[in-house]
Amino acid sequence: YALSEYNTLGFRSVAQFFAEPQSPEEIEACIQWAKEKQLSVHVLGGGSNVLLAPQVNGLVLKPALNDISFELKGDDVLVTVGAGTDWHELVRWTVERGWSGIESMALIPGSVGAAPVQNIGAYGTELKDVFYRLTAFDTQQNSWVSFTKEACNFAYRDSRFKQEKGRFIIAEVVLKLSRTATVNVKYDALTGYFSGLGIDKPSLVQVFDGVCAVRRAKLPDPSELANAGSFFKNPVISADHYQQILEHWPTLVGYPEPDGRVKVAAGWLIDKCQWKGYRQGPVGVYEKQALVLVHYGDGTRDQLLALASDIKESIHSAFGIDLEIEPQLFPR
Ligand code: EPU
Repeated sequence: YALSEYNTLGFRSVAQFFAEPQSPEEIEACIQWAKEKQLSVHVLGGGSNVLLAPQVNGLVLKPALNDISFELKGDDVLVTVGAGTDWHELVRWTVERGWSGIESMALIPGSVGAAPVQNIGAYGTELKDVFYRLTAFDTQQNSWVSFTKEACNFAYRDSRFKQEKGRFIIAEVVLKLSRTATVNVKYDALTGYFSGLGIDKPSLVQVFDGVCAVRRAKLPDPSELANAGSFFKNPVISADHYQQILEHWPTLVGYPEPDGRVKVAAGWLIDKCQWKGYRQGPVGVYEKQALVLVHYGDGTRDQLLALASDIKESIHSAFGIDLEIEPQLFPR
């Protein structure tokens, strides 16, 4: 079964078996079937954060549950969404209703079920900020489990579902949004965008449109140029290390963390090492954002990983920082 259409990096990949369960019962039936046949199971979401191997043995499951329902709770609204729903379509749907909370995460590619796995985030908001609950099938215990926010171990681009990779199959996610909150723009790139337009206090719809515009200007559309968003995490370094680098590179971009360490912009580091726009055969570094690696076609993940490893080496020797790859190897 060809998976090329199911990964935004556009790598050629063939799965031994493939299924798109549309209900919790179908998820369970697929797991049962795979157990009987002694096949491993690999869950694929929107395919926007994975590095697919050319051949995937076992069963690839792509949850296709896409119901949305909601319950009003005073000023808040609890929105229950099937894991197969497209994330950006959900954002649009909530903004149309005047509900705030996820508008600054517009245009993040991928499915709702994948969002908690890497705790997606953009422009000052992370999924965990609006997360209420989720339901997943535990393939170890063979039972359905409900997770509260605390049980998910959310951290920067991280969660329990990433730490215990392959164990849980997320079926449904519940978000808590606000019907009354005023929208807050905290992130520099966005405040700059609005002040340029002469807008002081942007509305919910303006934030949504603004995020879409800023992202379109900086990030390649996977349907035009294959990519998986940021290829590396922004590394967190000690305050001393940050000061050392600043002495030589006063323009270094860093954000203080609550624990005193500093998260630095990996895109800035890669840019400073002259990688922006670099091309190595079928893969390369995006010309407008050095944190994004792109695939021009007919390449493999090994070629992309080779480029990533050259970049990591050069960042290590220039700054003494070890970058960590963000997208996940599939299968693990
Ligand atoms: N920068 C450069 N050169 C570059 C790229 C960036 O100098 O080539 C500088 C920028 O000027 C800016 C700083 O680095 O001062 C940070 O760049 P940007 O605001 O574009 O954000 P980012 O740190 O590169 C992160 C997320 C994105 C998210 C944006 C906006 C990670 C790994 N990436 O990127 O998430 O959309 O912030 O919030 O945390 C993703 O995870 O796939 C993703 C796209």
